[in-house]
Amino acid sequence: MSSRIKFFKEAVKSIKTSGTVAPSSRFLSKRMLREIDFSNVDVIVELGPGNGAITKYILENLAPKATLICFEINDNFYDQLQELNHPQLIVLKASAEKIIDKLKKLNIHKVNYIISSLPLAIIPDEVSDEILDKSFEVLAKNGSFIQYQYSLSYFKKLKNVFKESISLEFEPLNIPPAFIYRCKKVE
Ligand SMILES: C[S@@+](CC[C@H](N)C(=O)[O-])C[C@H]1O[C@@H](n2cnc3c(N)ncnc32)[C@H](O)[C@@H]1O
Repeated sequence: MSSRIKFFKEAVKSIKTSGTVAPSSRFLSKRMLREIDFSNVDVIVELGPGNGAITKYILENLAPKATLICFEINDNFYDQLQELNHPQLIVLKASAEKIIDKLKKLNIHKVNYIISSLPLAIIPDEVSDEILDKSFEVLAKNGSFIQYQYSLSYFKKLKNVFKESISLEFEPLNIPPAFIYRCKKVE
């Protein structure tokens, strides 16, 4: 079974947490990553990796010394990610708001990039606020939080946290087309 079909079957079953039925296209996945300077990365975190549509491109580009840590709550997607069996990949079955606690257990205190496909608009406000605040806190200076969304509904919230350092892009070649927010921590 192709990974798109596997994703579709699981995403339909858990639509309230997946927020979509199709995995990201290669166009969206690559656009999410295209401003990352992989030669200067020690740690990347991915929030809501699903069955790895973006993960596989991160792993392709990761320098040998770098680590990718994924946070995924869905059991089936977690198992599919484990099957990638990549030496630089750590997959945690944990919700994104646990980011700081879980990273501390791995002795990681700062990260360079957070790549998020969390369906923020359908996550309860208090949880999504906590995810954003903790993501900001754990980012290293000049690190970025990169998020896609199918609407502009989260722009204001991201601005509250990242102030003026947000740029917006649009990727039409995805189902559905998506906006990409690049939020930089400058302070
Ligand atoms: C829109 S899908 C994106 C999947 C994949 N990254 C892609 O782009 O095709 C959202 C993913 O976020 C996961 N998710 C939802 N809430 C989460 C949370 N609080 N913490 C971690 N993962 C979560 C879902 O299980 C799902 O895999």
